[in-house]
Amino acid sequence: MGFFLARDRCYSEQKRVCGDDLPPLHYDQLKDLSLLDRCLKETLRLRPPIMTMMRMAKTPQDTRCVSPTVNHRLQDTWSERLDFNPDRYLHDNPAAGEKFAYIPFGAGRHRCIGENFAYVQIKTIWSTMLRLLDFELVDGHFPAVNYTTMIHTPRNPIIRYKRRKTQPQQ
Ligand code: HEM
Repeated sequence: MGFFLARDRCYSEQKRVCGDDLPPLHYDQLKDLSLLDRCLKETLRLRPPIMTMMRMAKTPQDTRCVSPTVNHRLQDTWSERLDFNPDRYLHDNPAAGEKFAYIPFGAGRHRCIGENFAYVQIKTIWSTMLRLLDFELVDGHFPAVNYTTMIHTPRNPIIRYKRRKTQPQQ
């Protein structure tokens, strides 16, 4: 969702990195799409799909819960914590060096093994959509989070899109 907010800049980045006539995307170019990368990172901060990670401690018998949704918005950790600002990652230590401030992929022994693959997939999908379509919100409606599913999704995710006049090369 956060991509909407930076969609013009992300579209310009496609042209700057890949060429004005937008030839088919090359794998090597993905790493150079740094704004798209930061938008994805910031989206995973504000809308982490997994809200809680449960751990059972052996001694004493106990269950602990860690929440990316909470850690990603801590007042003492993040400046302008509720703002979507992909450029915060241009600076060092956007979260004041807190070890578990940013954990959309978890942490420790059971940390996600698919982070890099997820970035490749999502950046490829969004590059394709940004090149073909122009998105806008419908009457400014910005969907809330649907917390009733295990992997959180937007509630009532209605958007408007139209084909761009200039289409990429096939
Ligand atoms: C944006 C995309 C993704 C997010 C936000 C995400 C998030 C997470 C999180 C938070 C955990 C830790 C769960 C816990 O500690 O209880 C996890 C674990 C895991 N993820 Fe992902 N994941 C993503 C994509 C992927 C992909 C694409 C793959 C595989 C190709 C993958 C494979 C796994 C596996 C196998 C584990 C379990 C690791 C273990 O228990 O040792 N994930 N993921």
